[in-house]
Amino acid sequence: MDRIRIRGGRPLSGSILIGGAKNAALPLMAAGLLTNERLTLSNVPLLADIATMTSLIAQHGVAVEPLDDAGRSLSIGGTIDNTEAPYDIVRKMRASVLVLGPLLARAGEAQVSLPGGCNIGTRPIDLHLKGLEQMGAVIRLEGGYVHATAPRGLHGASILLTMPSVGATENLLMAASLADGRTVIANAAREPEISDLARCLVAMGARIEGIGSDRLTVEGVSRLHGAQHAIVPDRIETGTYACAAAITGGELLLRHAQLEHLGAVARVLAEAGVEVTEQADGLMVRRLNGLHGADAMTEPYPGFPTDMQAQYMALMSVAEGAAMLTETIFENRFMHVPELNRLGARVNVHGASAIVRGVPALSGAPVMASDLRASASLVLAGLAARGETMVSRVYHLDRGYEAMERKLATCGAEIERVEG
Ligand code: EPZ
Repeated sequence: MDRIRIRGGRPLSGSILIGGAKNAALPLMAAGLLTNERLTLSNVPLLADIATMTSLIAQHGVAVEPLDDAGRSLSIGGTIDNTEAPYDIVRKMRASVLVLGPLLARAGEAQVSLPGGCNIGTRPIDLHLKGLEQMGAVIRLEGGYVHATAPRGLHGASILLTMPSVGATENLLMAASLADGRTVIANAAREPEISDLARCLVAMGARIEGIGSDRLTVEGVSRLHGAQHAIVPDRIETGTYACAAAITGGELLLRHAQLEHLGAVARVLAEAGVEVTEQADGLMVRRLNGLHGADAMTEPYPGFPTDMQAQYMALMSVAEGAAMLTETIFENRFMHVPELNRLGARVNVHGASAIVRGVPALSGAPVMASDLRASASLVLAGLAARGETMVSRVYHLDRGYEAMERKLATCGAEIERVEG
């Protein structure tokens, strides 16, 4: 298993190109199942999760063809000849469950493995299933799989999500696009990745109103056609590198980043003493003077994203004063805390909240990644820590960050990947 070695203490400067959003690319690839024609996606990030989704879609008999050498443009389309999403793929990537709605809508059936446990929480899919049942699906759980059929096709429904689930909103939006009649999804999640998916579906011929709001109205159509779609830049990658600039006392231009999508993160960073300014082709991030503690509570978009909590905690660990971080989305998303404390941070967890008391400096040590955003948090801490930090199990990092060590090294970080 690869590791990443960092010698900290060097302020970063330079520019980093922000890639396409992982959490937009995954549902958009699943949307490729909604038509026989070719859906072309550009600005595709080169990530392990994209490779996993590619193998899952190929498993359904639908071709995913790279249109360039790097694979940053993909063409998806074909006839579905297998409606099973097997456990050995789904257990590696929970987002595999996003094929459920498209398979039901196109093929009238799906056998999708239940995702099983996840480090950050139980992450059930009950809202996905209830919504699909309201649309006429017959769902049976057996042998660790969701067995879903739509014997008479899917029909429109009025669905109220008890919580604004990102995945449920995406699955139901895709299913509703081909359902017979009108579907309203109330209390829908509003993440930019959902708006990106909706815009792509509209380009494919779907009829969707309320994009960007918490109420989506879909008039189902009989078929969708091919389209070309450029994936929205990754706001979590943006926030992660913004924290890298801040924690090292440097200055980074994050090219292609969008301030609107960084919303609450930019506001919290400003409170902590980090300036984020819009430039012609991205965002300039720099620490003004000292870093000071600023509280953050994770919330559905447009609130502070749970996917930024671990990275922000690393930043707060070297701020003056204290910060309270409250995690309201997942029940176990503080696994980075003991590892940050090994680097000299002073973080205490009390239930859903963690109090971070800033220290003058962190000191390098071997640490272990436990999940995607926790691994990013440890890299950030290593950039600031005195001495050497070795982060192991970086396969977690590779799921959601393209060539992080290369991007940081080009901006002055002393960081390298240790193979094997
Ligand atoms: C998406 O996961 C993201 N993944 C996650 O990013 C992100 O943390 C999460 O949204 C919240 O923003 C992708 O987009 C691929 P949810 P998802 O359904 O869809 C509960 C990353 O680091 N819930 O909005 O699984 C659930 O347990 C990953 O890139 C139900 O109870 O998130 C959780 O507590 C990690 N029943 C909360 O809702 C359901 O049917 C939010 O989950 C569905 C969800």
